Amino acid sequence: MPESSNRRVGVLISGRGTNLQALIDAIEARRLNATIAVVISNRADAAGLQRARAAGIEAITLPHRAYATRDDYDRALVKELQARDAGLVCLAGFMRLVGEPLIAAFPNRILNIHPSLLPAFPGLDAQKQAIEYGVKVSGVTVHLVTAELDGGPIIVQRSVPVMPGDTADTLAARILEQEHLAYPEAVQMILDGGWRVDGRRFVAAKSPTSAAT
Ligand code: GAR
Repeated sequence: MPESSNRRVGVLISGRGTNLQALIDAIEARRLNATIAVVISNRADAAGLQRARAAGIEAITLPHRAYATRDDYDRALVKELQARDAGLVCLAGFMRLVGEPLIAAFPNRILNIHPSLLPAFPGLDAQKQAIEYGVKVSGVTVHLVTAELDGGPIIVQRSVPVMPGDTADTLAARILEQEHLAYPEAVQMILDGGWRVDGRRFVAAKSPTSAAT
């Protein structure tokens, strides 16, 4: 995929928005060369809306309950994103399934962050699932969004140990620290281009160092 001239990102949230904050901070620190075009929440009480506004970013609520079907809701999201010329969509704790209208409008241009090492523990309460299963290692996955829930090509993963005595909350906090590093890294990779999708594998661009060898 060639480098995209459009580095405008739409971020979809449902809650507290710490991953949104990590993207904002990475942009401000110039670790991420992007612009957040809009933040959209399906919930009016999402704390992430305030984080966006505090950073001078337009933040709107699009309540899913106002739409008869999921497709109608997805079409409304597409309209808002396209109206702001977003070229990439980041799901950052957006607790809604995304469907065909959104995926078709942004093919290989929607990213999701999930708090487990996929394909382990997709869906809700991934950290609780990991504790209950008894895995010794978990982590975070950033992946391209396809029609399959938490199933698209994996861009970045970071692992953390699961400690004896961990609860879902303590594990979630450890994973969250890695989420905040993984998401800006993945967004930068996608915006810089040079990558491709081969089957279900995401093949990263060669780094300048490895290209020279
Ligand atoms: C994060 O842990 C994210 O990985 C998870 O929701 C949390 C949102 O936190 N997402 C999912 O579980 C998606 N299946 P945040 O609002 O502070 O970024």
